[in-house]
Amino acid sequence: MAGATATSYTDRVLRSDEIAEFSPEVIEEMKSHLAKYPADRTRSALIPLLFVVQRERGGWLDNPGINFLAQFLNLEVTDVWETATFYSMFNLRPVGRHHIQICKTLSCRIMGEPEITEHICSKLGIRPGETTEDGKFTVTMVECLGSCGTAPMMQIGFDYHEDLTVEKVDKILDSCQ
Ligand code: FES
Repeated sequence: MAGATATSYTDRVLRSDEIAEFSPEVIEEMKSHLAKYPADRTRSALIPLLFVVQRERGGWLDNPGINFLAQFLNLEVTDVWETATFYSMFNLRPVGRHHIQICKTLSCRIMGEPEITEHICSKLGIRPGETTEDGKFTVTMVECLGSCGTAPMMQIGFDYHEDLTVEKVDKILDSCQ
């Protein structure tokens, strides 16, 4: 089949039936998210629950975690994958402790993103899509993060870093433990 690879998302969905297990505390946390939505709209809890599963599975969404959510919300596994693959805030492969997401869209691009990206990658010794050998940093290029007025910008974890310069980037990276 043209274009299919052993690691395609379709293959991953079709091949895995393992279901993750979570502690009673985490299950309670998930139920508290669920309780915010009408009983016939449980699907609306998918995004906050994906965040919980991502946190609990070591920073990324693996098949067992996705399968758990499908079962928990009584959804098809593909329904969960549809949402998980749409947003760049969900990681579909392991990432480093500090996940650097650099905006590559127009405003950031014309305001200096290429220089910022080159600087970060050469400082860390990796290319976009890669993780440093010590597992500390992952660099990912993403589409607009909605902070165009402060371009160029990047997100590390949940924090936005804006109006970036090479000097500012150095300080930010040096402060990452
Ligand atoms: S273009 Fe970079 S935040 Fe919008």
